[in-house]
Amino acid sequence: MKENVKALFQPITIGGIPLKNRMVMPPMVTNFSSIDGTPERKMVQYLRNRAKGGVGLIIQEAASVSWPEGKISNRQIRINDPVTVADLFDITDSVHAFGTKIIVQLHHGGFLAHPEYTYGAENVSSSDGNGARAMTKEEIKKVVDDFITSAVNAKNARYDGIEIHAAHMYLLNQFINPAWNKRTDEYGGSIENRFRIIREIAEGIREKCGRPFIVGLRLGAVDFPQGNTVGSAIEICKMAEDCGIDMLNISVGFYEFAEVVPTQYSEEAPYTYISEAIKKAVNIPVAIVGKLRTPEICARIIDTKQADLVAIGRQMICDPEWLNKILMGKEETIRTCLNCLEGCMERMSFADSGIRCVINPYVGVEDFYNENVVAAAGQPKTIVVVGGGIAGMQYSIIAKKQGHNVILLEKTEQLGGQMILAGMTPFKKEVRQALNWFKSEVERQKIDVRLQTKADVELISSLDPDHVVLAMGCEFADPPIEGIENAVKGDLVIGRKVEVGQGKKVAIIGGGVSGCELAHRIALEGSEPTILEMLPTVCSNGGVIHSEMLKAQVGSMATILTSVKVNQIERDKVFYRNADGQDACIEIDMVINCAGQKKVSSPLYERLIQKGFDVYRIGENGISNFQNATREALQLAYTL
Ligand SMILES: Cc1cc2nc3c(=O)[nH]c(=O)nc-3n(C[C@H](O)[C@H](O)[C@H](O)COP(=O)(O)OP(=O)(O)OC[C@H]3O[C@@H](n4cnc5c(N)ncnc54)[C@H](O)[C@@H]3O)c2cc1C
Ligand SMILES: Cc1cc2nc3c(=O)[nH]c(=O)nc-3n(C[C@H](O)[C@H](O)[C@H](O)COP(=O)(O)O)c2cc1C
Ligand code: SF4
Repeated sequence: MKENVKALFQPITIGGIPLKNRMVMPPMVTNFSSIDGTPERKMVQYLRNRAKGGVGLIIQEAASVSWPEGKISNRQIRINDPVTVADLFDITDSVHAFGTKIIVQLHHGGFLAHPEYTYGAENVSSSDGNGARAMTKEEIKKVVDDFITSAVNAKNARYDGIEIHAAHMYLLNQFINPAWNKRTDEYGGSIENRFRIIREIAEGIREKCGRPFIVGLRLGAVDFPQGNTVGSAIEICKMAEDCGIDMLNISVGFYEFAEVVPTQYSEEAPYTYISEAIKKAVNIPVAIVGKLRTPEICARIIDTKQADLVAIGRQMICDPEWLNKILMGKEETIRTCLNCLEGCMERMSFADSGIRCVINPYVGVEDFYNENVVAAAGQPKTIVVVGGGIAGMQYSIIAKKQGHNVILLEKTEQLGGQMILAGMTPFKKEVRQALNWFKSEVERQKIDVRLQTKADVELISSLDPDHVVLAMGCEFADPPIEGIENAVKGDLVIGRKVEVGQGKKVAIIGGGVSGCELAHRIALEGSEPTILEMLPTVCSNGGVIHSEMLKAQVGSMATILTSVKVNQIERDKVFYRNADGQDACIEIDMVINCAGQKKVSSPLYERLIQKGFDVYRIGENGISNFQNATREALQLAYTL
């Protein structure tokens, strides 16, 4: 281990439970339970792998204490029913085997409980509003009892404790946030009254579960734009300490503003100022979370007493071996999270599906495949992979681990394909880091890479492969527009082979993600972009959250014309029909074509099939993105 990360490996005791280091995996809903609220095998394996990765404490995802009426997702764990205990024991047992402690988060959705999953139950909250009705005192008592019963179930399932979820706009946050809690009884008004329900839960749990048993509190310490502030959060934390809470897990805000899960637009470690202020005011351990991806930043937080523990969320999804790699001084082998939210949060929230990770295709199928123990192929084969983009690299990495003789052909002078272009956007440094990981992993696996080698039937025949895998991706295509030859291809400008120059008026044909990211960049560099998009909205081909944020950024930096049809392009003019059906023209210095892409593998595929080769195609079958590319690579590697 390197000297500057030593702080991470100091032991600490919380609520009488010793932890081997300062690393916490915060709660993250996986949707890996079955519809009846019992965990599936993939949840056990997913958590086992994170425990094996070396983390000191796992806080398991939000489990419903009032199942079904408090549920927020279709596959939430049903912790209030003792029937679930036996299945949960599989989890605690597997995690403890690695010396990792585990507690489970107790949760009620309040007005965010989802009617589709609560079987018609009426939504309740601290007060009327947001589609919910104010809880009666009897209902408050019932929810307090639900939390206590659930904690007892957790103890019986051999968890080392529980965490009370009082953040992210859910029920207990709806009590402590004065913007929502308008009650005039003993559960509303003063900060002590708004905290009362948490106090009753915490004291009730302690009475039934005793010690040693961690009773943690996840607190939405600062509610943007209105609600608690650092000042009131400190008061709440002092009350938490007073009622026997053993640990504070500090978070902020709400999902709808992407504050809970900082994106590519956010700085690293944005919330440590909050934990630092709280830590000074209390004597119980404080954990902080939020885009903590590098070991140096994490160790500095501990060293400088900004927090006692660091919670690493998505990075732990993306690379379960994160901590072991730091322990062994192999930071360069860490697969760093993109903060894109596309595989994890978006699938969980918008598709109500099990989480995945766009660059770690094992997530969600860890009960079938093990990244670290790849079974050797019965009979090693020669496999030629055409294309060194993310799909080709991911496939080659697995196939080589399986013991095959892999030859990776790439026609350009470097590996990466379109990932290189994706990483050109200023705010996408994470993509550049991930690309470096794929390239260095290819190197570590000693894959036979042949750069500047364009594959054709003759070359492939000469290599005499058992299988051929085409991972040739797509290329920027010309739409059928008169004068399109006057436009510069988008990939040339994105890849900086053609520079726009400062102060130029630029028309970008096509407002998908690549057109919008390019507009964003050239605007930052001093040009005036106008995006012409034929659909009613821009960014319609990207992840939901990223697209919304990109749209907001670009909207203030570029002129955006939607529902327009470009008819003709001249060197200094673009003629189009606007949304009202009227012909119009803009004068420009440059036109850039980002109007779409086309697949490139078909002719080679047909010829290879005709010659009798066993050929497969990956990475361009669905929508072209990292997630499909890595996923198809994994599926094929474990099928051949
Ligand atoms: C600006 C931009 C931003 C993007 N942002 C994102 C994002 O945020 N998230 C996301 O998920 N996706 C994003 N994408 C899409 C993503 O980059 C692609 O979907 C993904 O990289 C495709 O990977 P691939 O391996 O399938 O294909 P490619 O990356 O296209 O790789 C194919 C490779 O095959 C090589 N090749 C082709 N023919 C031959 C041949 N005959 N012989 C040898 N080699 C050959 C090519 O040179 C290339 O290197 C973005 C794309 C762009 C352009
Ligand atoms: C897929 C996903 C699910 C989450 N589920 C929960 C949850 O169940 N309870 C909770 O308190 N926070 C939840 N969070 C928030 C995380 O615990 C964490 O605070 C957030 O991801 C920021 O940390 P990171 O930047 O290290 O990912 C979730 C986050 C993600 C990405
Ligand atoms: S899907 Fe994106 S944000 Fe989520 S863990 Fe993977 S890389 Fe990170």
